[in-house]
Amino acid sequence: LLKTALYAQEKLYVGTDATEFPPFEYIENGEIKGFDIDLIKEIGKLLDKEIIIKNIQFDGLIPALQTGKLDIVIAGMTVTTEREKNINFSKPYYTSKQLLIMDKKTNLDTLQSLNGHKVGVVLGCTGDIIATEIQDFITIYRYNTTSESIMALNANKIHAVILDSEPAKNFVKNNPNLKYIDNELAREDYAIAVGKENLSLVKDINSALETLKSNGVFENLNKKYFVE
Ligand code: ARG
Repeated sequence: LLKTALYAQEKLYVGTDATEFPPFEYIENGEIKGFDIDLIKEIGKLLDKEIIIKNIQFDGLIPALQTGKLDIVIAGMTVTTEREKNINFSKPYYTSKQLLIMDKKTNLDTLQSLNGHKVGVVLGCTGDIIATEIQDFITIYRYNTTSESIMALNANKIHAVILDSEPAKNFVKNNPNLKYIDNELAREDYAIAVGKENLSLVKDINSALETLKSNGVFENLNKKYFVE
């Protein structure tokens, strides 16, 4: 694995958006933590590279890969054909879905039910893509971070947020006034992203993922972060 690595650098700059996407990435006592962070550090160990984590707003992650400011993005990022035009994805490492999250007193469940309502999304996220498809009958509120969308929900500025399932469940756990609706608006795969030209890095990430899946490390990370 190491001998085939064409990238000579000792350090890999890894971008994520940690504000706040639990359990994949979040900030605890000023430190960036989460499933994605542990996973990329394990991959770094296998590739014998130092991992340097950078916290960047989600819609800035792909541009930072394209300009070479980042080597890798791990951010609960969904594989889409649109994104694949500009970056390379590893094999998927997690299957997720898009859900609605809202105040307990609000009763919305399907995309149709959002008709005439104020819907929050995070700029450039796949929730934004879903909302944009129905923009003719909803009002879209775009936020820079997931935390801001949840704050807007708590302040009753919007009726619902379209959000990834695991973060939605985590936010509901910590905000007793909120609920999520287990009605899958979309099914998605998360993968690790690298720049379009960085084919050897994506290959190495894929073999590292395979190693972590066969040696039990991946399973332990799942147990650590996805206990019900
Ligand atoms: N899965 C969604 C997407 O790819 C949202 C990811 C948000 N990630 C984050 N770290 N805040 O668009």
